[in-house]
Amino acid sequence: MIRVKGLGGWPVILGFILFEISVAFETGAPDNTCRDPSSVHTFQFNATHTGIYMPQPEGRNPYILQTDRQSFGPGQPVKVTIHSGNTGQPFRGFFIQAVEANINIRNLSRVPFGTFASGNGSRPSSCDMPGEVVHRGGITHVQNDDKYNITVTWIPPEDNPGNVQFLATVVRRYTTYWTNIRSIVLYPEGYSGQAAAQTRREWTPAMAWYAWMMYLLQAQHATPQQQQQLQRENLVPQ
Ligand SMILES: *[C@@H]1O[C@H](CO)[C@@H](O)[C@H](O)[C@H]1NC(C)=O
Ligand SMILES: *[C@@H]1O[C@H](CO)[C@@H](O)[C@H](O)[C@H]1NC(C)=O
Ligand SMILES: *[C@@H]1O[C@H](CO)[C@@H](O)[C@H](O)[C@H]1NC(C)=O
Ligand SMILES: *[C@@H]1O[C@H](CO)[C@@H](O)[C@H](O)[C@H]1NC(C)=O
Repeated sequence: MIRVKGLGGWPVILGFILFEISVAFETGAPDNTCRDPSSVHTFQFNATHTGIYMPQPEGRNPYILQTDRQSFGPGQPVKVTIHSGNTGQPFRGFFIQAVEANINIRNLSRVPFGTFASGNGSRPSSCDMPGEVVHRGGITHVQNDDKYNITVTWIPPEDNPGNVQFLATVVRRYTTYWTNIRSIVLYPEGYSGQAAAQTRREWTPAMAWYAWMMYLLQAQHATPQQQQQLQRENLVPQ
């Protein structure tokens, strides 16, 4: 039995995955990336087992997540840029969302705040979750070509979410990606009410598992070429 640490610290027992999986996200990250961005880069280990490419060590992240403001408020959009700075390393994919400042990436209470505008080779991701739909709470690429920077526009929520921070996953290649890339903390300005703690919800491990399994089921549609390409690459989980 292969075990990979992931999904909020639960051991992922790969033998539980009994269908064929492998996919390249040519047109953006799947919606449940909202929950656990480290769990979605999978490959077919053999006929019965699926593996997960784990994210790269955070210390070696070459990408920077910048905002054009330090605060936000109703009707005050924030431009958010990913760029590779001096390292000059291109990236192919990304996923960004606004979350509670400093919340742990694996905290199951993590929810997206606000919405993203379309444009610049990106599309909002609906962040569908069991029992609730949060439209456009994340944003992802529409094409997996090499790029050096991308700017997206975040539209703050109407209710005060408290301090927020942008959280990104940036994909160099399908097998090489970084999660937990963070912007500065932005503070709310111009809201009449206090931070709305009731916008958070608790996720049980069973709900998180359900979302992940739904993703894996969707991911069965990789072309034979995509599957071959993945099989040529390193097939051993790190
Ligand atoms: C797939 O790999 C796992 C782990 O090595 C092993 O337990 C399982 O029997 C393999 N399945 C097949 C069909 O080879
Ligand atoms: C998860 O985040 C919520 C909301 O900020 C917080 O109340 C809770 O203590 C966090 N849980 C853990 C395990 O850090
Ligand atoms: C963004 O990347 C393009 C090339 O894709 C480059 O021409 C441009 O100068 C870059 N802009 C910034 C602000 O880095
Ligand atoms: C697209 O990027 C440019 C800067 O490169 C930025 O000014 C513009 O606001 C961006 N558009 C959206 C919809 O975020």
